[in-house]
Amino acid sequence: MLKHRTLGHQGLEVAELGLGTMGMTAFYGSGGTKEDHIGVIRHAHELGVTLFDTAELYNRGNGSNELLLGEAVKPFRDEVVIATKFGFAYDDAGNSIGPDSSPARIRQVAENSLRYLQTDVIDVFYQHRPDPHVPVEDVAGAVKDLIDEGKVRFFGLSESGPETLRRAHAVQPVSVLQTEYSIFERDVEDAVLPVVRELGIGFVAYSPLGRGFLTSVVKPADQYDETDFRRHHPRWQGENYEKNKRAIDQLSQLASDKGITPAQLALAWLLAQGDDIVPIPGTRSLPRLEENLGAADVALTPADLERIHEIVPEGAYGPRYPAGRVPVWE
Ligand SMILES: NC(=O)c1ccc[n+]([C@@H]2O[C@H](COP(=O)([O-])OP(=O)(O)OC[C@H]3O[C@@H](n4cnc5c(N)ncnc54)[C@H](OP(=O)(O)O)[C@@H]3O)[C@@H](O)[C@H]2O)c1
Repeated sequence: MLKHRTLGHQGLEVAELGLGTMGMTAFYGSGGTKEDHIGVIRHAHELGVTLFDTAELYNRGNGSNELLLGEAVKPFRDEVVIATKFGFAYDDAGNSIGPDSSPARIRQVAENSLRYLQTDVIDVFYQHRPDPHVPVEDVAGAVKDLIDEGKVRFFGLSESGPETLRRAHAVQPVSVLQTEYSIFERDVEDAVLPVVRELGIGFVAYSPLGRGFLTSVVKPADQYDETDFRRHHPRWQGENYEKNKRAIDQLSQLASDKGITPAQLALAWLLAQGDDIVPIPGTRSLPRLEENLGAADVALTPADLERIHEIVPEGAYGPRYPAGRVPVWE
């Protein structure tokens, strides 16, 4: 049974595990039909998930991800929290061509998202990535206007560093920061989480299963489809892959000793890092959804947490994005 957590000081309450819908239309190759994906989203709601995460970036130029989510949650729209993101410009084919968080673009994305999602309010509107050409004060101001107009409820940032968080928060309180965090990705612990906590901002952990690596269902990069981002991901290449595979094999042994799965171990570990953290694992599969939500019933002991730290003291081998794409926090 999922308990609830409060993100930030503005009253955003969600179940402790959310669902990311990115892989249903983008980045992880193909898997399942639209009907399958709607089934996963609706079953997540039946099982108590309230936070559903999408983004303009996952639409692939035709609204696909937001349209899917909007259709899926339509029968129970008022019972869920829809989070979406702005922050990029696109070419005619729908490929991102760089950051764009100009206030006019933010408003345009909001109007599109409201239409695609078939809703009159976006619960959480995140800036997907900082835009070096637009001061974050202007971004916060643009979202504040949308909040004042009733089109957005809560302001979020993704992959922002401490100084950016402070500057944004001074204009419009930030309810939630979304950034990568998992047993395999720990950089936020030193640089970002202390500031998030000082300011009273909630934290949503994306790619909490290490993009699938932490589930132990993993294969070397060249065995993924051309359309799968992991084919080019540093953690799946050569020696990094071998070392990361050895770590997940040890984590899997620990999970098996406890009678749980590696995915449940990874999510329970995140839930144990603080009650201001909500992971949003992504899956296109009903059995995996049920498995992942089972993590809420897992209690890790101090000895378990110590053993995990022993196996993975600092995170995975290899950077978390290909060269030139690792977000820089300011
Ligand atoms: N703010 C950002 O910049 C940003 C970046 C990345 C992601 N996100 C958000 O975070 C969400 C989650 O991140 P993510 O999808 O990148 O990574 P993730 O949740 O760490 O892992 C997803 C991958 O693991 C597989 N998987 C899930 N549960 C499994 C299980 N129990 N057993 C075996 N395999 C399993 C999924 O495959 P199947 O789907 O085939 O089950 C998928 O390939 C996204 O959907 C998106 O909403 C945000």
